[in-house]
Amino acid sequence: MADNAKLILEGKEYEIPVVVGSENEKALEISKLRSQTGHITLDSGFVNTGSTTSAITYLDGEQGILRYRGIPIEQLAKNSSFVETSYLLIYGHLPTKDQLANFSHLLNMHSMIHEDMKHFFDGYPATAHPMAILSSMVCSLSAYYPESLNVFESFDSQAPRLLSKLRTIAAFSYKKSVGHPMMYPQNHLSYCANFLQMMFAVPAEPFEADEDIVKALNILLILHADHEQNCSTSTVRLVGSSQANMYASVSAGILALWGPLHGGANQAVIEMLEDLQNSGTSCKKFISSVKDKDSKSKLMGFGHRVYKSYDPRAKILKEMTDLILSKRGVNDPLLDLAKEMEETALSDSYFVERNLYPNVDFYSGLLYKAMGIPVNMFTVMFAIGRLPGWIAHWKEMMDDPQTKIGRPRQIYTGETARDYVHIDQRK
Ligand code: CMC
Repeated sequence: MADNAKLILEGKEYEIPVVVGSENEKALEISKLRSQTGHITLDSGFVNTGSTTSAITYLDGEQGILRYRGIPIEQLAKNSSFVETSYLLIYGHLPTKDQLANFSHLLNMHSMIHEDMKHFFDGYPATAHPMAILSSMVCSLSAYYPESLNVFESFDSQAPRLLSKLRTIAAFSYKKSVGHPMMYPQNHLSYCANFLQMMFAVPAEPFEADEDIVKALNILLILHADHEQNCSTSTVRLVGSSQANMYASVSAGILALWGPLHGGANQAVIEMLEDLQNSGTSCKKFISSVKDKDSKSKLMGFGHRVYKSYDPRAKILKEMTDLILSKRGVNDPLLDLAKEMEETALSDSYFVERNLYPNVDFYSGLLYKAMGIPVNMFTVMFAIGRLPGWIAHWKEMMDDPQTKIGRPRQIYTGETARDYVHIDQRK
């Protein structure tokens, strides 16, 4: 138990309870501040505001530590599969053999989407961004599974259903965009091999996913699987706090992920590198331009709200990108450019002083590219990876009797009271 903090405000002293987490993280608990003092706290972008306690993921941005349910991300990337890690995040412990087999069975049982939903894809233009399709399709799932509207029941079937169907929807949206027939899931395959089959197989042609690519995809998805209270997860929790169903909440999370400052950065990184390559702009010149605040441009894939040292996910991805590219005999000049850009940025005082390092999105796009995943599907890949985290947070919140509807306050800065003026008398 930590001592309470003391707050002196307008000459009066108040006790503020201190909450301490299992890794000794400390917070001032201010839920009664307004009723006691008439003040609220103001923290644009929630830079310093904890929205909840959570037992899912621990992140230390200064030390570059990331653990799911206590297990270091490095160990999971090395030893686990995406399905096993999803189970860990959602249920809080590593599954036994039977539990994993049962979970995989549920994923297989739910791998198809209702045939009627296939017609939805026809309504989109071929140029539609797959994130728009993904979010709409996930929300539409709630129409097909009305039992999900009762949010306190049926979680154990809804969670694997959504995990499995998101993968199918993602692959179908890609097939739609290239005008190929949709490939149905083949349930003898593992989760990742099945996804690659749905993405890249064509009818009447044999297809077998490359083992290295399957392994790399598992690692990529594991690295994305949760990141505590990031923008999309906070969105899922905020929407879910109104007791909206899991599909609606996750659909909103997908949209929050889409932005280039969040999951959309993986697409933006490749586009940035390609632009530089095509225009012949040097890394030094580009770095100078992002330092100029008037330019409004950023070095995409760099910087993080929480990490103030090297993002541990980026470290693993950088090594893996090298490995996969060399194993496949691919010489991607964009990788050389990315490495040169990293080196240039990390030796520039602007980046050093602000602790700006490569984040998970800096190298993930290069790896997706090496796997043959098209650029506009990169953020969809992030969404598939982040889904178990969204589900775990949605469940944690629903199970917590302390959960309240999310409803921040504000400090009003507009006009003070004034009278309505009839349109004929307005100047
Ligand atoms: N390039 C140039 N300057 C930057 C960058 C960047 N990528 N990132 C931060 N800065 C500067 C920023 O301008 C500010 O400078 P100053 O102190 O002079 O005003 C300082 O560094 C602190 O940055 P901030 O914008 O206050 O930091 P934030 O916590 O609000 O934003 C961020 C975090 C990730 C949105 C931001 O670093 C960024 O926009 N990065 C590029 C987009 C990106 O790669 N996003 C993916 C994040 S990782 C995947 C995920 O989990 O979403």
